[in-house]
Amino acid sequence: MSDEEDMVVTPWEVRGKVDYNKLIRQFGTQPLTDELMKRLQKHVGELHPQLRRKLFFSHRDLDVILDLYEKGTRFVLYTGRGPSGPVHIGHLVPWIFTKYLQDKFKTRLYFQMTDDEKFVVEQNLKLDETAKLAYDNSLDLIALGFKPENTYIIFDVKDISLLYDIALEVAKRVTYSTAKAVFGFQDHTNIGWIFWPAIQAVPCFIHTKLTGEIVPSLIPAAIDQDPYWRIARDIAPKLGYYKPAQIHCRFVPGLGRGGKMSASEPETCIFTTDTPEMIKKKVWNAFTGGKPTVKEQKELGGNPNICTIYQYFLYLFEENDEELVRLSRECKSGDIVCGDCKAVLTERITKFILEHQKRREKARDIVGEYSISRN
Ligand code: TYM
Repeated sequence: MSDEEDMVVTPWEVRGKVDYNKLIRQFGTQPLTDELMKRLQKHVGELHPQLRRKLFFSHRDLDVILDLYEKGTRFVLYTGRGPSGPVHIGHLVPWIFTKYLQDKFKTRLYFQMTDDEKFVVEQNLKLDETAKLAYDNSLDLIALGFKPENTYIIFDVKDISLLYDIALEVAKRVTYSTAKAVFGFQDHTNIGWIFWPAIQAVPCFIHTKLTGEIVPSLIPAAIDQDPYWRIARDIAPKLGYYKPAQIHCRFVPGLGRGGKMSASEPETCIFTTDTPEMIKKKVWNAFTGGKPTVKEQKELGGNPNICTIYQYFLYLFEENDEELVRLSRECKSGDIVCGDCKAVLTERITKFILEHQKRREKARDIVGEYSISRN
């Protein structure tokens, strides 16, 4: 993939070099300003590194959520996963952030596992396979520390009777021409896929059905999911709900040159199920901002801005802002070389993944406690 390729960002495809400011304009979202972050800080205390580092960079109605919250109306969180394979660390970014918001605001999370979506969209996946992957991926969510008391996982196919009435209310109010304009559907798109966005809208509103409470939802996710919310936001007032709000993150890059971390390029992806050997191999083959030889690197320095290894420190594996600055400075001056950074990153990712895998195994015993239809 070349950087020059035209940018394409849809819920099913991300290509080319992503220009996030352009996306804000194209999608019509709002930048996450310093002012809004300060407002958020009043409620959360310390800002999460993903906020400080502007990895979450855009939103819709986060200000409205805070207005309501300050007047005593709580909100619920909603996010999800399309189970088409194992989870990679890119997926974990919005989920870790969701956990942070949940802890700070003590609020409920609805998490949608879209085994139905992946069945209609992916030619090669059977329904029992996506259902199994949904179960498997939910272990990753639970391993991040979410508690059953305030976390409700929706397994679409299994839980469809709970979702279907709201999905119909949504679908009836969205024309084919709107869906086509928003999602780029073609004549050859199967009709399961065309109906499907109505289902992704449902968890924005499900809390009211379950509890009678009318509260808004806030959706942390990467910006690729935004098209869904345009539709959900359009019809929400017609159904008597608040418009769902969003907070959008950038994409964790793959370990290759350019592009987001995507399971379609497994060699450039760290999966939560990878072994230490696989992690080491992938990190050591990563695209960096270094020079071809150690001698040149020491003389001329490297470029952290294009380095995937540096991005990993930035996104997940270096909490200390000063350390990040040091890394960047010493890379540019040639005081450190790529091998130094790769060794540290390999160690950190391996430690993280091995601990995650242990918690993931334990989650098998309790996954049923999280199901939205648990009773
Ligand atoms: P899916 O499975 O494609 O992605 C799951 C979540 O991970 C985010 N994401 C990334 N974040 C950072 N870096 C990356 N490289 C990266 N790749 C993916 C996605 O934005 C998403 O938040 N249709 C959805 C499932 C879904 C959903 C939702 C997602 C249903 N309801 C509500 C978010 C919010 C899907 O296929 O996600």
